[in-house]
Amino acid sequence: MRIRQHVNPLSRRFLEISPSLPALDPSKTLEVEVGCADAQFLFERARIEPNHQYIGLEIREAFVEDINRRARAENLPIHGVFCSANHHLKKLFANRKIDVAYLNFPDPWFKRRHFKRRMITEELIADIATVMKPGGKLLFQTDVESVATPVMRYLTGNSDFENEAGAGNFLAGRHAFNARSWRESNCEANDMPIWRVLLTRN
Ligand SMILES: C[S@@+](CC[C@H](N)C(=O)[O-])C[C@H]1O[C@@H](n2cnc3c(N)ncnc32)[C@H](O)[C@@H]1O
Repeated sequence: MRIRQHVNPLSRRFLEISPSLPALDPSKTLEVEVGCADAQFLFERARIEPNHQYIGLEIREAFVEDINRRARAENLPIHGVFCSANHHLKKLFANRKIDVAYLNFPDPWFKRRHFKRRMITEELIADIATVMKPGGKLLFQTDVESVATPVMRYLTGNSDFENEAGAGNFLAGRHAFNARSWRESNCEANDMPIWRVLLTRN
């Protein structure tokens, strides 16, 4: 599948779309990956927890079409939603709060001049807090130290979240979600360092 490498999230195109969620069962746990690419992480989650519901938010439309086609073929409760998380997250989840949110390996390629285009900002962290259930979990992971450092600062500065490893500390070892995103598998296979933070929504 040929998919564009980069998309400019500041493009006017994303202001003109009105994404929506599929029908969701309010009694089921809702897990959301923000910037899911091929959603490998959600497919692995759904195969072990088929009673949960999974939403992947992705700015590249071809990924979303492919996720929805594969989820239907495998009969898994996963839905890709084409959107820009920075523009649409709060509206999408205004009436349906999230139990578990994943920020897996975002923004790895950002050069200084493209800093404004990055997905994870202090505002996005605040938006995620707004759409999460109290007691919900947020996992952030990256293999890029220059992403880990500012994101840890945003997370520590947001009093809606409590870091499970103690303020300012990265998780020692892996997370316990029994799934790996595409980039996570790649980093682990190549013994690359990964910075992880697991938080609880107060
Ligand atoms: C480096 S990839 C990581 C993909 C996957 N989470 C993983 O760990 O393998 C980051 C993904 O975030 C998506 N993305 C970037 N900005 C976004 C935005 N504003 N809203 C939604 N998705 C975005 C990119 O298109 C890309 O697929």
